[in-house]
Amino acid sequence: MEKYGAIDTGLPVTARKEALPDLNKSRRRAIIKRALLVSAAGVLLGWKLLNGTVWNTNVKDTSMVRGISWTPCADLTEFDCAYFSVPMDYADPQPSEHVSLALRRWPATAPKKDYMGTLFINPGGPGGSGTASVVIRGPELGRILKGRYDIMSWDPRGVNMTTPAIDCYPTEYDEYMSEQQSYHLGLPFQARGEGGSAAEIALLKKKDTYTQSGVGSCLKNGNAKMLASVSTAYTVRDMMRMLEALGEDERGLQYWGFSYGTILGATFSAMFPEKVHRVMLDGVSSARFYHRDIFDWGRSGMDDTNKVWQGFLSSCAKAGPARCALAKGDDTAEIILARFNKMVELLLEQPVPVSWGGVTSGIITASDVIQGVFKVLYAPKKWPILASALAALEEGDPYPLAAYVNEPAPQGDPLTARRDPLDNVFKRHMTKTWSTIAGDAIMCSDTDQTVSHAGFPDSTAFAEYSRELGKLSVTGERWAHSIGRCRLWNITATEAYRGPWNVEEGLKQTNFPVLFLGVTADPVTPLSAAKDMSAGFGNISATLLIQDGFGHCSTAHPSLCTAKTVAAYFLEGRVPEYGTVCSSPEEYLFPEDGDSPMSSMSAEDRELLQAWEKLGDSVVAW
Ligand SMILES: *[C@@H]1O[C@H](CO)[C@@H](O)[C@H](O)[C@H]1NC(C)=O
Ligand SMILES: *[C@@H]1O[C@H](CO)[C@@H](O)[C@H](O)[C@H]1NC(C)=O
Ligand SMILES: *[C@@H]1O[C@H](CO)[C@@H](O)[C@H](O)[C@H]1NC(C)=O
Repeated sequence: MEKYGAIDTGLPVTARKEALPDLNKSRRRAIIKRALLVSAAGVLLGWKLLNGTVWNTNVKDTSMVRGISWTPCADLTEFDCAYFSVPMDYADPQPSEHVSLALRRWPATAPKKDYMGTLFINPGGPGGSGTASVVIRGPELGRILKGRYDIMSWDPRGVNMTTPAIDCYPTEYDEYMSEQQSYHLGLPFQARGEGGSAAEIALLKKKDTYTQSGVGSCLKNGNAKMLASVSTAYTVRDMMRMLEALGEDERGLQYWGFSYGTILGATFSAMFPEKVHRVMLDGVSSARFYHRDIFDWGRSGMDDTNKVWQGFLSSCAKAGPARCALAKGDDTAEIILARFNKMVELLLEQPVPVSWGGVTSGIITASDVIQGVFKVLYAPKKWPILASALAALEEGDPYPLAAYVNEPAPQGDPLTARRDPLDNVFKRHMTKTWSTIAGDAIMCSDTDQTVSHAGFPDSTAFAEYSRELGKLSVTGERWAHSIGRCRLWNITATEAYRGPWNVEEGLKQTNFPVLFLGVTADPVTPLSAAKDMSAGFGNISATLLIQDGFGHCSTAHPSLCTAKTVAAYFLEGRVPEYGTVCSSPEEYLFPEDGDSPMSSMSAEDRELLQAWEKLGDSVVAW
């Protein structure tokens, strides 16, 4: 009989004999492999919601976990790859139905005596590829942690190379097209500007219809059982399985999650508090709102967005024309904003054509400008790019803005052909671009659908919510669009974790304090969420580190103080005092050539900060 966690070849699932890993095939390296652990997975506990409904019945599963067999990755051999089997449905595990998780790690380089085990990472989303994030961030995280950890991630259920795929579309191109068509309808404010509230509602109807076509594609073509099994709660259970297979379950989880990864990490810490060893949640989002009320989650996300926007405008004014192309003479932030609003207004009257210029062509609309702002607020490092693009637009050249808004996602070029998802060196299902449907499948089945379906059911009602978020921030309507999709998603998760989220509700003490990190001006994960989540866990189970800076997650606006505090948490188990504040240097905002906060630093500090800066390069607006 198939045992979950038995060595997974990554080949199509068929019943096969239990196999033990062949360690000799794995690459030799400085660290010696941990002894393979054979542990009977315990009976998972049932948990109760406050209102008494059981969110998980007792799960009986006595399958064995037998290690992970790593081999050099087929694409980049300096990384290790592996596949790992877990039950598709933890509530009703069937030997013939499993999920094959795709794993990748950047191996530790330190001598064996200094080896500290595996650091699990998650890049965010939901829907972000963990395997890709190890390629992008593994080496830098390894450097920050002095080579003492294996930096490991996996594609969560429903994502990229983890199989079976949710399979709503035959190729990602087909999904991408549908998404693009919806994007090009624009945002509600544009429709209002063009034709008042009737036009706005007509637009929202079309957008809702696109969303229905997405859900409909999943219902019609997708893998129904898989679609019901991509919840964050199940991904948490996968993490437990991997921890066991690595032989690290007794000590507990070591984890660094970004953005949505903080929801995943908080959910793990709430479900398995005794398994928390070192958990760092970077760019904290409210896991409580996310699971219980998607509309409150949307509102909360916009708490600090305008602070970042204001920061962009005032540091541009301060930097002046030499460093910020959008600044003219002695323009103040208010004047720059007025000029920005004027550009948006003119575009409402008349979109501008973009001739082919190497990356893109088409038109620039008022909505595209807001899309550009949405994207840039994540990363102060990109501020000069938007500033230049807006300056060019004002001068009559829309191309730089079009190129910025449509630039290929770092994960891969926009698709130009219907590519076979198996056409890659792994000979396994792979996506190259961001999948909105995968994100929806996770988020909209995690959240309480009695709330998401009832809140703003039709397009007219939803217009109210969209306008409400539009008042909260410059990119509120863009954000509302992502949230609104859950109104129409009607595939439910077999298991979702809805709470407890605080000690009063019955949250148990964690084995070690979780490090919550909030940035004072983050466009989508506000400091209020970091405060609320850490307060919920309580000051024994949680601590809060505040980074006084701009952008999404701590890496967007590097701070040596944060870098040292986080490194000390992981390397020495040092927990910063609740509410510790680290600041990010202003030199990073519209920097002058050769201007670096590093000039007066020791070599060690410089190396640490450089690694952190590189991490920031990978900040992506989902
Ligand atoms: C779910 O949504 C789809 C697409 O909008 C719709 O056709 C279907 O009837 C809905 N199913 C349920 C059970 O509500
Ligand atoms: C899927 O995983 C592969 C291998 O890790 C990676 O190259 C690719 O970029 C990932 N796709 C996305 C959308 O991140
Ligand atoms: C933790 O919180 C409690 C209750 O708010 C407070 O009395 C206590 O002093 C705090 N302990 C620490 C170590 O901050």
